[in-house]
Amino acid sequence: MSVSALRAPVATQQPIPLFDLKRQQARLRHDIDRRLAKVLDHGQFILGPEVTELEESIAAFSGVAHGIGVSSGRDALIMALMAMGVGPGDAVIVPAFTFSATAAVVSSVGATPVFVDVDPATYNMDPHAIAPAIESARTRGLDPKVVMPVDLFGLPADYAAIKQVTDAYGVRIVADAAQSFGGRIGDARVGGLAPISCVSFYPTKPLGAFGDGGGLLTDDDELAETVRQIRTHGRQGDGDEAMRIGMTGRLDTMQAAILLAKLSVFKAELNRRAEIAALYNKLLDGVCTLPPADGVSRSAYALYTVRLKNRDGARDALAARQIGAGLFYRVPLHKHPAFAATLAGDEKLGVAEMLSREVLSLPMGPDITDDEVHMVADTLVEFVHGNAGQPAAA
Ligand SMILES: Cc1ncc(COP(=O)(O)O)c(C=O)c1O
Repeated sequence: MSVSALRAPVATQQPIPLFDLKRQQARLRHDIDRRLAKVLDHGQFILGPEVTELEESIAAFSGVAHGIGVSSGRDALIMALMAMGVGPGDAVIVPAFTFSATAAVVSSVGATPVFVDVDPATYNMDPHAIAPAIESARTRGLDPKVVMPVDLFGLPADYAAIKQVTDAYGVRIVADAAQSFGGRIGDARVGGLAPISCVSFYPTKPLGAFGDGGGLLTDDDELAETVRQIRTHGRQGDGDEAMRIGMTGRLDTMQAAILLAKLSVFKAELNRRAEIAALYNKLLDGVCTLPPADGVSRSAYALYTVRLKNRDGARDALAARQIGAGLFYRVPLHKHPAFAATLAGDEKLGVAEMLSREVLSLPMGPDITDDEVHMVADTLVEFVHGNAGQPAAA
């Protein structure tokens, strides 16, 4: 069944959650049940045939040689850093406006996260901020090894501009593509935009499992083999010896089976997400600052995120109509207690601070109806025109 065939009008008093996973499950339930029954029958719960099939499918989807199914997006990032030998004394450059896991993985391997500001036009890492951050890390006695851009809300970062800086400094890139599987720049899909990309299959992500899951995508044979060893206790293939220090980092076969069912309709779902974003854009033009779009990059629309001054008031107005809205992210990373000890103290992160006060994510997903989008937009328009909620300056 096509995704758009499900666009039935709903009664106005129905709640509209930020994410609605139930409708998608209903749409795909038959295929999911069938695939799960197959896993129960063959019983290969760890690295079963569905994991291999998914790995091949996500690699082909992204246009890269290797897809590796792992336990979560966070573990994918940790394994990428471990595979590159990042550890104590090293610095990893990360944007200040993202989910905490982006920086936490750096601390988890013993390295130091160095925060840079984001671009107000894209909300992604500002490529101009990278060189000063590398220099500043060096003056602190750290060895900057990796730059870790995030594809925030599903929009790919500016990898071409970032690569110019990393090439000049001999630093590697690990893409935190947790939110952006399915996004692209021109014809190049996420997975092929950076030497190694880490995706999340957390249930609310564009391609989401029914539990934790993640993946790594790369063209680099050596890196892929190293990550495969790390995810299985450092073992090589079926070997007994630990070739390196590893972890239990595998994607389980049940989740792979669910993801295969979802991948079979993923392109149609991405198109529907783009359609919903276009409808929101039309209805909210001039009402609030619309999500970044540069005409070349295509977001996977993990979230549809607008900006406005009275963001908290808008959230409350939506909540009063049982419309779910999300505040991603209320606190920029340099203000998290967990990272206090890692700060240089002279970071200039004003855009991240502004965004954390002004962003508001609206209901998004392949099964939201046009009527629901209208209801959300009408509520926001009413709020902004009715009181102090003015659009944030573009
Ligand atoms: C930017 C970013 N990085 C990393 C992660 C971690 O992914 P997971 O929840 O699969 O561990 C997330 C998850 O929300 C994320 O949004």
